[in-house]
Amino acid sequence: MAKVKKVFFCTNCGASSPKWIGKCNACGEWNTYQEEVVVKSETKQSEKLVWKKKQGTATGNPRPVIIQEIKAGNTQRLTSSDNELNRVLGGGIVNGSLVLIGGQPGIGKSTLLLQLALSTKAKILYVSGEESEEQLKMRADRIGTSISECYILTETNVSKILTHAQDLEPQIVIIDSIQTLSSPFIDSTPGSVSQVRECAGELQRFAKEMNIPVFVIGHINKEGAIAGPKLLEHIVDTVLQFEGDRNYTYRILRTIKNRFGSTDEMGIYEMQATGLREVSNPSELLLSQTDEDLSGTAVSATMEGMRPMLIETQALVSKAVYGTPQRSATGFDLRRLSMLLAVLEKRGGLLFGQNDVFLNIAGGIRVDDPAIDLAIVAALISSLEDIAVPSDICFAGEVGLSGEIRSVNRIDQRIQEADRLGFKQIFISKYNIKGLNFDRYQIDIKTVGKVEDLYQTLFEV
Ligand code: TYD
Ligand code: MG
Repeated sequence: MAKVKKVFFCTNCGASSPKWIGKCNACGEWNTYQEEVVVKSETKQSEKLVWKKKQGTATGNPRPVIIQEIKAGNTQRLTSSDNELNRVLGGGIVNGSLVLIGGQPGIGKSTLLLQLALSTKAKILYVSGEESEEQLKMRADRIGTSISECYILTETNVSKILTHAQDLEPQIVIIDSIQTLSSPFIDSTPGSVSQVRECAGELQRFAKEMNIPVFVIGHINKEGAIAGPKLLEHIVDTVLQFEGDRNYTYRILRTIKNRFGSTDEMGIYEMQATGLREVSNPSELLLSQTDEDLSGTAVSATMEGMRPMLIETQALVSKAVYGTPQRSATGFDLRRLSMLLAVLEKRGGLLFGQNDVFLNIAGGIRVDDPAIDLAIVAALISSLEDIAVPSDICFAGEVGLSGEIRSVNRIDQRIQEADRLGFKQIFISKYNIKGLNFDRYQIDIKTVGKVEDLYQTLFEV
């Protein structure tokens, strides 16, 4: 007989409790418990599918093995048609891995994976619980390329999906999305904590035992975290985040977690009418194409993951009309902007207090790299003084609280990229020159130690 049980689950970590509690004992979060009805039948549990194991996968009875005896380098990877994705995953899709892709609604998750399914020469099963076959066909026609053997399945029952997958034996399985899946062994609504956890567990078991990579799309909640229990992120091998500003066409694919590669990689795409296009040379897109030198603009040599990228920063400093001056930043941390303004005021004697300050990073990209500070400071001073920074100058340096310009990592790569793109001059921290061979570059390297130095070199005539 099926037992009907009401259980409370923590929406943050997935812990359960027989009664409601205000603070989760497992993760310490407040007010995260929600009630779910769970029907578990013992007989049904034993009916769970047992996969026909493929050769070469882990056998049922593992023994302890000395680490030296384990053969290295036998992770088999499947190279997809999408070079950005391959790189983000650490060099291709690892067989038997479970990859979770999160992102805002409408950012292009389904498009990314359908495109992968259509253009990779492999047998692929695309399971959609969100769109009908016709809708998917329409989208596929928009994307155009179709050289693969791509099967579409519109189903939400995880057992049925995996039975089909087992019969079809595809090389990649794509699930759109985990929140629409439901397991017959659990009687709560799709998207609930227990369902998400159970379905993710089933998919993980399938991926590992059949040695087939599974991509799973996950929705994200208001705060930007992947909806469902944190546990989901622990279960999967790789978590990717697809982000970007919907008003712009650029999309960034970041690694949040990767068991098979570094989390420093990222991929850039451009959303076009015919799907996503890989952007292999981002700098050229993120620099504006104007020839005029305008005040308030400065170019920063930043690193996004392992890739150097030159990005334009724009500042507008204007007389405040209302009592309290406004501060606004797009693509940059507002508190950090306030900090930089305070430094300029205290150490540079520049008065921003009576002015509105607006800051914008080109292309709708969000930058966390501290090396962008120096370019922002230059853009702010340039707008305040209304003196343009020549467009062939770029910057890379972090600004400290006492107005000192601090060194940044991978300075060599930044200089090389600026050099390659034809910049004439780069400003870096004077503490950053250790080990640099100035003769290697054509670009003129200027070193500065304090914001005052920057002011004197650039703006004092
Ligand atoms: P979608 O993949 O449905 O987003 P998600 O699955 O993350 O919710 O992408 C939807 C958006 O992408 C939609 O607003 C239209 C746009 N789009 C294009 O601009 N070009 C295209 O070729 C496709 C397929 C979609
Ligand atoms: Mg979608």
